[in-house]
Amino acid sequence: MKKNIAVFGTGYVGLVTAAGLADIGHNVTAVDIDQRKIKELKKGYLPFYEPGLKKIVKSALTTNKINFTTDSDETVSKNELIIIAVGTPEMSDGRADLSQVRRVFDCITDNMVQKKTIVIKSTVPPGTVDKLREEYAAELDVTNSDIIFCPEFLREGSAVHDFYHPERLVIGCNNLDAAKIVDDIYYPVARKMDVPVLKCSTVSAEMIKYGSNVMLASRLAIINELAEFSEVVGGDIRDVAIGMGLDSRIGKNYMKAGPGFGGSCFEKDIKGIAKAADYHGVNLGLVNEILVSNEHQLVRPAMRLERALGSLKSKNIAVLGLAFKSDTDDVRNSAAFNVVEYLIEKGAKVKVHDPQAEYNFIKDFKKKGYTCADTADDAVKKADAIIILTNWKEYEKITPEFLNNLMKGRVIVDTRNMLDEHSFRDCGFTIYGTGLKELKPYKRNNNCKDLVNAAIVTV
Ligand code: UGA
Repeated sequence: MKKNIAVFGTGYVGLVTAAGLADIGHNVTAVDIDQRKIKELKKGYLPFYEPGLKKIVKSALTTNKINFTTDSDETVSKNELIIIAVGTPEMSDGRADLSQVRRVFDCITDNMVQKKTIVIKSTVPPGTVDKLREEYAAELDVTNSDIIFCPEFLREGSAVHDFYHPERLVIGCNNLDAAKIVDDIYYPVARKMDVPVLKCSTVSAEMIKYGSNVMLASRLAIINELAEFSEVVGGDIRDVAIGMGLDSRIGKNYMKAGPGFGGSCFEKDIKGIAKAADYHGVNLGLVNEILVSNEHQLVRPAMRLERALGSLKSKNIAVLGLAFKSDTDDVRNSAAFNVVEYLIEKGAKVKVHDPQAEYNFIKDFKKKGYTCADTADDAVKKADAIIILTNWKEYEKITPEFLNNLMKGRVIVDTRNMLDEHSFRDCGFTIYGTGLKELKPYKRNNNCKDLVNAAIVTV
């Protein structure tokens, strides 16, 4: 059954949810306090890059299935089902800032003349929904309204795909009738595809969201630590991950070693759950350590390059990739900040490139001492060394021949293990993959004429 749905917040979660629900036939009103953003969205311009999203937003605008507005009062009065997907950013002490959720709640309760089903998708600490229920009991009870917590698991870069192919639907609720409403709106994607639906208490659902991100982040922290060890003893982390993943209790996904995890969620949620536990007198010691471990990983590519070159002073370094992962222009907590800062501090001349994220990087990285390149070719031209940080498809196509013609030096730090290291080694490059032993050139290859001039680096 098609519903009238209001979605508060047009960030990654809100906009993808709003556009996806409109695309499967619901009538959606998406609300945001940012007037400029809403003006642009009405014209079909998105505030961020997300593959496939523009298409469904435009199509929903054409069929009038989606409407963008800043008028929250009117939106609340016109919609019975309200989804809250506003931000819950980290406060200076690490706790989640719930002020945006509260503002929406005030608006809903101020305009609550008939029954509403309020679905919270914003990540909130365990116990938040129960607290809101208590605080707003008068308004909720008089209208017989419900609050549900329905965590979102989509990933940036594949958010639209994730909307249509969820692995589970978690509905935290006190009331099974209310849960059915959520179940129904997702029917075309979730129920039809036999997606498991877990109905549980709101506290359990809140824990599931934090727990999932903490578990994923710890997995990456462990694989990255094993990668570092592997480099020293000469193992190959890709084989290690395959071998470990063949144990079905471990599994093969989400096991790629890299430059340390980034993004807007893991760090915030790790701190958020640790702080929430602290408040209740529980120490999540291991969870806190994940960030300590990751901080080290985020700067490690630059330190590895420094060891390789002896000194970074006056070296021309190309940094390929600024986004925290491919297919997004989001740079939040990206390794690029740590790496570029380290390189600049050590006196390197840094040129950065990213197919989507340069604008956001320049906006957020206030330090001077680096330049941006329009193309990867431009970035690597005359470089003594390159560091690949983001797993963009276009960097996979980099060949030894391409670099031979453009680079001055012959050193590559490939943090994503995207390049075929043997072909680079054969062409005179020294290549450092994450979790792989350093490969130095060992033979001459006629296809690569520049080999004679290759700088063979000894660490
Ligand atoms: C993460 C979760 O995966 C989502 O389920 C969750 O909904 C989201 O946070 C959130 O809470 O909003 P996201 O941060 O968008 O999603 O991206 P991921 O694909 O999880 O990547 C996070 C970081 O881990 C990236 O830096 C990525 O490059 C890195 N990563 C991921 C690896 O280094 N190796 C891997 O095998 C996978």
